[in-house]
This record gives sequence, structure tokens and C-alpha cells, in this order.
Amino acid sequence: MANPSNRGQWSGRVGFILAAAGSAIGLGNIWRFPYSAGEGGGGLFVIIYLGFVLVIGVPVMLAELAIGRKTERNPVGAFKALVPSSWWPAVGGLGVLTGFGILAFYSVIAGWTLGYLGMATSGYLSQAVDADASGSIFSTFVANPMFAIALAGAFLLLTITVVRGGISGGIERIAKILMPVLFVLLIVLAVRSISLPNGLDGISYLFTPDWSELSLSVVMGALGQALFSLSLGMGAMITYGSYMPKHENLWKAGTYVALADTTIAILAGLIIFPALFFAGAEPGSGPGLVFVVLPTIFNQMPFGYIVAVAFFALLAIAALTSTISLLEVLVSYFVDERGWTRERASWLIGTGCFLLAVPSALAFGAVPALSGGEDGWIAWDFLTLNNNIWGNYSLSIGAFLICVFAGWKWGVPKLLDALEDGDGRIYPLPARGMFGVLIKVVCPLAVLIVLIFIVVTGSYF
Ligand code: TRP
Repeated sequence: MANPSNRGQWSGRVGFILAAAGSAIGLGNIWRFPYSAGEGGGGLFVIIYLGFVLVIGVPVMLAELAIGRKTERNPVGAFKALVPSSWWPAVGGLGVLTGFGILAFYSVIAGWTLGYLGMATSGYLSQAVDADASGSIFSTFVANPMFAIALAGAFLLLTITVVRGGISGGIERIAKILMPVLFVLLIVLAVRSISLPNGLDGISYLFTPDWSELSLSVVMGALGQALFSLSLGMGAMITYGSYMPKHENLWKAGTYVALADTTIAILAGLIIFPALFFAGAEPGSGPGLVFVVLPTIFNQMPFGYIVAVAFFALLAIAALTSTISLLEVLVSYFVDERGWTRERASWLIGTGCFLLAVPSALAFGAVPALSGGEDGWIAWDFLTLNNNIWGNYSLSIGAFLICVFAGWKWGVPKLLDALEDGDGRIYPLPARGMFGVLIKVVCPLAVLIVLIFIVVTGSYF
């Protein structure tokens, strides 16, 4: 077992916040959030999502960070350290498994972003003059098994290269470069998009709830999205918290990360929805939304070539800092628990994820059995299935168990102690009391109710 002091650390709070925000901000914000909101009735989805971020996301974020920093371990080791010889480490085990599951489909979409970046740069995307042309570019592209597999592999290779460099020398260093670039690109694109004709209609779609759209799948989607977007429910924040120096303030750091992630999701909405309304396109068109709809819109706007290149560069950057965190969870497990070197774990696990990604890479027409039949990429494909199982259900179950653990097994007093390590108890009593109620009662109950409703009504997907 590795000695905790050799595991590496963030250089300080800023390094941690950038790396953790890099984990949280990803395809979840820019690809998944807009299409989920589009399918969930726009403003309605957004309001429920924001509620979940505030009431469930922030407390679970703080709980994960506290567990991680206290134990200085990966998710499995963290539970082992706190409650040895119990079944709790299995919760960490579920997290590690979920990490494999998410990375297996995430790296495929991340590969698409590289492909689209290439197509945008070479000017090929200028052929996406209308929805039909763009749709056929997309379906031809994703159905090409060589492209899909090679690009997912290339993306994982990039990820491995960073993760093998370690915490401050690899992950933190790249986050410090990429996150500011990402932010600037987002602002530029949002300004461009909002100033388009009809842009304001997109904004009102994003913020005006239509309560008649309310359904269980919208609520489940919003819960899954809140957890997925904040990288919660599988121990990623346990892992990132485990590299946090003891004297740093976790309350603030965790809240900043949640705030940054949510701001960027909304910013992504402000890029995509005004552009959709400008072009008169359909918000509810599913996972193909940013890949099919946006290129046609880029072709209709002034400076569209540059906007397209910037957008897909942005998407690739956001995805990279997230795949890094997913791989890091897996690597930290094999380093801490199995005594592997970081170098070996990065390469072997990264390769393993590549093999797991192959079925998802083939799920868009290359292999019909994985593609869900006639409906192709909209309905039942292997990738969407993975996205649901790991990205909604597994994270929800994980978040529920983490709340029960933190609130009841470990206990609120110890949790508060771990959060406040280093900077004394400067938090006013009401904040501490409210946090206790949220983590013990509100969060686990809310997640449980959603899950029970899903099972009872049979509305799984
Ligand atoms: N949060 C990332 C996104 O929004 C994805 C991600 C990275 C993630 N690490 C995670 C999701 C851990 C769940 C758990 O794209």
C-alpha cells in the first residue's frame, strides 16, 4: 500500500479548484445539459436541475471532499480507512466500477469532439448547410467504426499522458492552462450567440418553466444531470479531495467548484439555445443536438468558421479535464490498494477503458445489434444505455449511499470536523445545522424517493 505522503498533492486551493472544476465542467455541461434541457421542456428542467444542485449537489460535494481529505485515499481505501471490516468499501467499489462505465462511453463522445474539431478546421463542416446535410455528415461520421474507435483511443491516449504525470505536475498543470482558455471561449461564444436575431427567445426558453411538461423522467434526468455534471456519486471528489492539503478550507473550495460548474452549464445553454432559435431548430433532438444542429447554425452566422473551430475546441478541452478525473479515480485505486506504480496503472487502466469503449464506439450504426435498430442514434443504442445506467442510476445510488454513510455512519460531527480541518470552526452554527439536516435527511430522502418512483412506475429510461 502506498504511503499517503507519496501520493502527491495539489499545490493549494487554486490548483484544486481549477482541477476539480475541470472535472466537473465537461461534456456534461456543454453536450448533455443542453440536450437534456431540450428534451425536458427547457426552463422546467433547468429549475429542477438548479434545485438539485443546491439541495443535493453542494452537500454531497462537501461530504465527498471531506471523506477524501480525511483519509487521503481512493474511494475504496477511504471507506476502508474509516470503517474497516464493514461492507462500506463496496460503495467505493461501485464508484470504481461506475468510473469504468462512464469513461467507456464518455471517451467515445470525447473522440467525436476531436473528429468535429478536425472537420471544422479543415472546412469540411461548411457542407452542413441544412439539417439534412448536417444529419448525414453526423451519421456517416459516427457510423464509421475506424474513426469512432481511433478517436476514442486518441482521446484516451491524451488522458493517459496527463494522468501519468501525477497530481500537481500533470493534472493541475494542464487544468491551469486549459480552464482559463475554456472560460474565454465560452464568453466569446455566448456573446456571439445571444446577439443573433431571435437569440432572446432562446434565453426565455431556457428560463421559463412549462409545468405541463413535468414528468418522472424529467425529474430523474435532472437529478442524474446534477450529479453527473458535478462529478458526484462515484467518489471522484473523494479522490480529488484526497490530494487537498490539510490547511485548506473545504467549504469554500467545494462551493466554488459547484458554482463554477453550474455557471458554465448555464453559459453553455446561453450559447446553444439562442443559436437554436436563430435557426428555427428543434431543441428536443437528443444527443445529436450539438453535433447535428450547431454546424448548420455556424454556417449561417457571420464568422461561422471561427465560431465552429472555437466551439469544438472548447468541447474537446472541457472533455479532456473530465476524462482525466475519471481515469484518476481508477488509477488512484490501483495505486493505493494494489500497489501499482502510477505509470503502470495509467497505461494499463487507460488501455482497459479503451477496450470497454469499443462497443459504445460501434453503437451508432457500425454494428446494428448495438445500435438499437431502425431508430438509430435517437433511441436505444448501447451508448445511451450506458449513459443511463452509469450516468443516472449508478450515480444516484452512489450519492444516496454516500449521504447515508456521511450523515449516519460516520456522523455529522466528524464530517464537520473533517470539513473544517485546518481553518478552525469559523462557520456559524446555522450553516452547520442546515448542512447536517441536508446530508442526513433531505439529500438521501430526495434521491431515494426519485429512485423508488422510478422502480414502482417502471419508467426506467
Ligand atoms: N462532470 C463531468 C461532466 O460534466 C463528467 C465527469 C467527470 C464525471 N468525472 C466524473 C461524472 C465523475 C460523474 C462522476 O462532463
